[in-house]
Amino acid sequence: MTNISGAWRRTAAGAGLLGPEGEVSPTIFAEMSALAARTGAVNLGQGFPDEDGPAEVLVAARRAIADGANQYPPGRGIPGLLAAVSEHQSRFYGLGWDPGSEILVTAGATEALAATLLALIDGPGDEVVVFEPFYDAYAAAVALAGGTLVPVPLAWPDFQPDLDALGDAVTDRTRIILVNDPHNPTGVVFSAETRERIVALAERHDAVIVTDEVYEHLTFDAPHVPIATLPGARERTVSISSAGKTFRTTGWKIGWITAPADLVTAILTVKQFLTFVNGSPFQPAIAAGLRLGDDFFSGIREDMRRRKDVLGAALAAAGFAVSRPGGGYFTVADAAPLGADDAVRFCRELPDRAGVVGVPLTAFATEPHRGAYATLVRFAACKRISVLEDAAARLQSLGSTR
Ligand SMILES: Cc1ncc(COP(=O)(O)O)c(C=O)c1O
Repeated sequence: MTNISGAWRRTAAGAGLLGPEGEVSPTIFAEMSALAARTGAVNLGQGFPDEDGPAEVLVAARRAIADGANQYPPGRGIPGLLAAVSEHQSRFYGLGWDPGSEILVTAGATEALAATLLALIDGPGDEVVVFEPFYDAYAAAVALAGGTLVPVPLAWPDFQPDLDALGDAVTDRTRIILVNDPHNPTGVVFSAETRERIVALAERHDAVIVTDEVYEHLTFDAPHVPIATLPGARERTVSISSAGKTFRTTGWKIGWITAPADLVTAILTVKQFLTFVNGSPFQPAIAAGLRLGDDFFSGIREDMRRRKDVLGAALAAAGFAVSRPGGGYFTVADAAPLGADDAVRFCRELPDRAGVVGVPLTAFATEPHRGAYATLVRFAACKRISVLEDAAARLQSLGSTR
């Protein structure tokens, strides 16, 4: 602890990243993955695929390395990827973005988010409204940027936000409404009414919408609707996506932003001093991926739907109450019918009881709201069907140990 600065200690403590003695505590994800490794349990905790992505994309990266794409790429990203992002946004959503001024390639969605918050937040008076539970980097990035987090809770089992609570949370102090749709960890896809309300509130209070849409191609009931396509949204929205989930390349960390030029310029001023650039040979590979045919994109959606169905059925058969995700990698299950009253304890015991690892939903919530998620567990469906079937067979033993 002697080497950690007081400023970061305060920041990290504010984001709940430090333990009671000020120590850096391992995240629940690291703890659960270590538990899976130690016990041989099936790890449905962390959300990374256990199969490679499309061969065309992998081959393109190898070719790029062989062809010498190994030095710093341009700061905004290589022209081929900027053009491919622009074409992709136009092809799927009818959105037109200028590759030269309205698109920025980043080191994953995580850097896109951090650079955006650092660029736009001006201090504790600037509030960031965020739907809770949330992907854990959000609170850390808001804390790093010195802003104030204003969580709007999403309630089991449908996880749609209460629009009155949302209306109360957004005020003239709101600098950013931070959206994640489809949503991690709940799997919710926001309703059209919710999307419209977010845009109306952002307009009324002159807030920027920052939207994390990394699961854009993994929606189960209807095609994804980017919030930037709504009337009045485009000019005040920073849309963030990433290649990791779509092309099963989470380790490549290629992400991107689409936004009006003035917002991209502001974000670029920060991004160039975070990583400056990354992933030279991966950028042309992801450009090739974004240009794959429609059958690839419908294929990954159907594939994830099948996996989510196998997982959901397994959890229900084991005695959990199971939510119905509309998209993304995850399914949330309530362990209360199995006698649990504390999901953290339940998750720590699950590897021994049933040989499976999940993550308690409280890990994605701030202290005051954790009670609402006390018995809920997130399971990842982004694994091979054979792995999910193995998990299903193991989970059956829960019924007998209830
Ligand atoms: C909602 C959400 N945003 C961002 C990320 C991270 O994206 P990247 O790996 O591109 O930084 C994840 C990964 O789990 C996520 O679930």
